[in-house]
Order: sequence, then structure tokens, then C-alpha cells
Amino acid sequence: MKKIKIRPHPHIKNVFISGSSERPRLYTKNPIKGKTIYGEKLYHDNKIEYREWNPYRSKLAAIILKHPSTKFLIKNHNCLYLGAASGTTVSHLSDILSNGIVYALEFAERSIRQLIQNSSERMNVVPILGDARFPIKYAKSIFTNINIIYQDVAQPNQAEIAIRNSDYYLKEDGILILVIKSQSIDSVSKSEKVYKKEKKILQQAGLAILENINIQKYALNHTVLIARK
Ligand SMILES: C[S@@+](CC[C@H](N)C(=O)[O-])C[C@H]1O[C@@H](n2cnc3c(N)ncnc32)[C@H](O)[C@@H]1O
Repeated sequence: MKKIKIRPHPHIKNVFISGSSERPRLYTKNPIKGKTIYGEKLYHDNKIEYREWNPYRSKLAAIILKHPSTKFLIKNHNCLYLGAASGTTVSHLSDILSNGIVYALEFAERSIRQLIQNSSERMNVVPILGDARFPIKYAKSIFTNINIIYQDVAQPNQAEIAIRNSDYYLKEDGILILVIKSQSIDSVSKSEKVYKKEKKILQQAGLAILENINIQKYALNHTVLIARK
């Protein structure tokens, strides 16, 4: 395990950085000493263990490196995470929302098996086997209000899925983080055209677009919309 100087992120509680403020490396505190989720590096500083958070593996880390102005990561907030896969980003979100709950929805059985293993020691992660297109079907697994919906499902109708879940679960003033993969929606049209269309669909459903974050540097053909209900 390596030793490195790690300091709190200036704006986001439970996120840590090293290096220059302009181009920092990101970390979260590891609550389960010695355990890694996706081969991330562990570091020790002042007897605290940190997991490095790789923006090429987690689009949420990429979003943070782009300095969003919306404050959406608040430690006692609850998040509905759509498209959890095996829990790479979920694990860091669980570290950040330390007093909240992360409901991690995934429909691929193989991924959810890994997700369950990866989050078995994390008391604030609720893995859910379910299909994001049908929000009503997992209502029994969600037992608090939802402050944030984070969606990364790579499906053709990404905006509609986000709207359905926001209508059903997101509290008024809650934040939707929608990761849009243009290739999953339309592999022929230009990405910018696809993003514009998805944005319009959200606006027509009454969501206010706060920011559009370009994460191309870390994830090709992806953009992120941050919206408020
Ligand atoms: C790009 S991966 C997500 C990566 C993950 N967000 C991370 O950063 O660790 C997309 C995931 O969404 C899941 N997915 C796609 N459509 C879904 C749906 N309708 N309901 C639930 N999960 C879905 C896929 O099985 C896949 O695991």
C-alpha cells in the first residue's frame, strides 16, 4: 500500500483529492479496510485508508473532475442508482452518501451477483434486481424518499426511463443525473443531435436542465445532463 498526501475536496464532503487543485486525483475513504472492488489502488494517510477513484472507470468521478456547479452529493441524501452493474461507482457513492442509502438497480443477473458480493459489507447499499423501464415493479424495495436519481443504463430510450423514475420516485427539487450514451440511442446521427433531443424530452416532461457536462475525455460518446425536478 502506498503513502500519499490526501486532503478533503474543497466542495464535496467525503470526497478527497491529491495533487494540484486543477487536475486532482480523486479518492473516497474505504470503510472496509483492505477490500477493493475493481482493482483500484489503496492509499494510507494518517491511519485512514483511501480508495483511488478512477474517472475512466466511473463516470461520476469524471463528472466531479469537470467541476459541476450543482451540489448534488450530500452525505445524508438517498440515491436511486439505475444501471448499477457490478458496483464500481455504487461503491464510491456509498462512501460519499455515508448517512444515506444507495438503491442500486441492475437487470443483468451476472452483474447483480457481483454487485451483491461487492456490497455485502456496505450497510447503506440496497442491491435490487429489476428493470429500470418499469419503476413500479421495484417500489417495494425502496423505503425512503429519493433525493438523487443517477442513471447510466445505455438504453435506446434513456430520457423516457429517467422521466418515468423521476415521476415515480424523485422528491420535488430532487436532482437527476442522466448519463447519455449517444451510440445506444442512435448510432448514425451526430452525438450532439442525440444529446439535444434527449435534453428536449426532459424539458418537455417539466425537468429543469441545470447543467450539461461533457465527459468525452473520459468516456467516448457520453454526455451528462443534470436536471432538477
Ligand atoms: C454502462 S453500465 C453501468 C456502469 C456503472 N454505472 C458504473 O459506473 O459502475 C450499464 C448497466 O446498465 C444495466 N442496464 C441496462 N438497461 C437496464 C435496465 N433497463 N434496467 C436495469 N439495468 C439496466 C446494464 O446491464 C449495465 O450493467
